[in-house]
Amino acid sequence: MSESLTTMRVYQGLIAGPIALSLLYSISVQCFLSGWHECSWTYHLSSISLRLTLVIVAIAILFAMEEFSHDTFLLPAVVFPILAVTLMVRTRKIYITGPTSEKYIQTQAAKDKIVLITGANTGIGKETARQLFMAGATVILSCRSEQRARDAMEDILSSQQHNSSNSTATETTQLRSKTMDKDRLLFLQCDVSDYDSVRNASQELDKMLCKLDKSNDATATPALDVLINNAGIMMGTRKENKAGHELTMACNHLGHFLLTNLLMPNLRASKYGGRVVVVTSSTYTLADKGMDLDDLQCEKRSYTMFSQYAQSKLANILMGKELARRESETKNKGTEKPVKVYNVHPGLVRTDVVRNMPWYLKYPNMMFSLVLVTLQKAPPAGAYTNVFCALDESLENQSGEYFSNSEAFATNKFTHDEDTAKRLWTLSCNLVGLKE
Ligand SMILES: NC(=O)c1ccc[n+]([C@@H]2O[C@H](COP(=O)([O-])OP(=O)(O)OC[C@H]3O[C@@H](n4cnc5c(N)ncnc54)[C@H](OP(=O)(O)O)[C@@H]3O)[C@@H](O)[C@H]2O)c1
Repeated sequence: MSESLTTMRVYQGLIAGPIALSLLYSISVQCFLSGWHECSWTYHLSSISLRLTLVIVAIAILFAMEEFSHDTFLLPAVVFPILAVTLMVRTRKIYITGPTSEKYIQTQAAKDKIVLITGANTGIGKETARQLFMAGATVILSCRSEQRARDAMEDILSSQQHNSSNSTATETTQLRSKTMDKDRLLFLQCDVSDYDSVRNASQELDKMLCKLDKSNDATATPALDVLINNAGIMMGTRKENKAGHELTMACNHLGHFLLTNLLMPNLRASKYGGRVVVVTSSTYTLADKGMDLDDLQCEKRSYTMFSQYAQSKLANILMGKELARRESETKNKGTEKPVKVYNVHPGLVRTDVVRNMPWYLKYPNMMFSLVLVTLQKAPPAGAYTNVFCALDESLENQSGEYFSNSEAFATNKFTHDEDTAKRLWTLSCNLVGLKE
């Protein structure tokens, strides 16, 4: 091949290749997100059209190359790859990474607030804890393993210290703030799938909140400002908890239902107005016949991981909406304030949630990690909507709604079925031993 022909082929590759890749990435993001019900099929259409236009321009340039001297195409051969990389980074930033909680951290928006997060030792829960801690909150990590929780607390503290050592504060100020910061991270033992453990945790929490309470009023209910029901599992095979209840439903819905009900007096006592953030999932849409109240424990249906997980996540939304309705109708006593409830889909996030999945899902998830990592959110991005719903003042009138990518998102007809939500509430009370 002559030298000039080789140069032309290189130019052609540089003009067409990267820009075609950028179009392919855009289309993949759109298909991936809409396939997981994170957006409509037209969500990303204008950006895709722009990339398509660029591909057409690139093809036109390739044809023109046959006619003109290839030196004319040096500029497009430099510009097109840069443009393609910029567009791919932009697509990722807008549609995958999303906004960051920097503004809450800078304004210390959570200062003096007390937040409890279940399952906060890893994944989305840990990143939510980190961001709320950075925003000034006292964060209680409610986990089943003390060791894993303490490791997470160490990690959060060291990232905070890393940040403050980069600041211009004096050494003494930094030392004082490190000691004070340590007191803002607390551990509470709780296995949410074990109802005795949940009851113990609520009693321990009362003691913890009394110690944190600065009002010196021993008769008042100690306040909790935000509860984030985050812990969750996906089980490849059907297992049961101590009470004989199917484990996914027990952990994802029933245990959190009990915990939330036990903590309502503390949440109503919050001077800021208490909030409950229910971490659900867009996978609830897989419950395509709605909530199966006749077989909550999946004893009659054949067990599949996705169908039972979807049932538990639909139960989360129904509980969130019903709680919001009940709170709006309750007449609060004295200084109590109604609690606001937000259902959150964190996005498709690369975490350890796959650990109990069957091998044919777990291993491909590892093998294709290089591709998946470009399409899935990292845990800090997955935590953003939790932080947004825990703190943002603009949401005061949106109690009961479902949020994805920090925007209210319409949900299907099964989530709006008030009769089913009430029956689920009664059934859940009976199963966990609560009086309605
Ligand atoms: N990742 C996603 O793409 C995605 C998408 C939609 C919704 N979600 C939801 O987001 C939430 C967090 O998931 P993740 O992806 O961060 O998962 P993860 O990395 O597996 O973390 C789950 C957390 O829950 C804890 N947990 C599990 N069972 C528990 C129990 N019985 N009692 C107390 N804690 C328990 C785990 O503690 P151990 O370490 O002790 O097991 C861990 O801290 C879940 O509710 C999940 O359904 C995730």
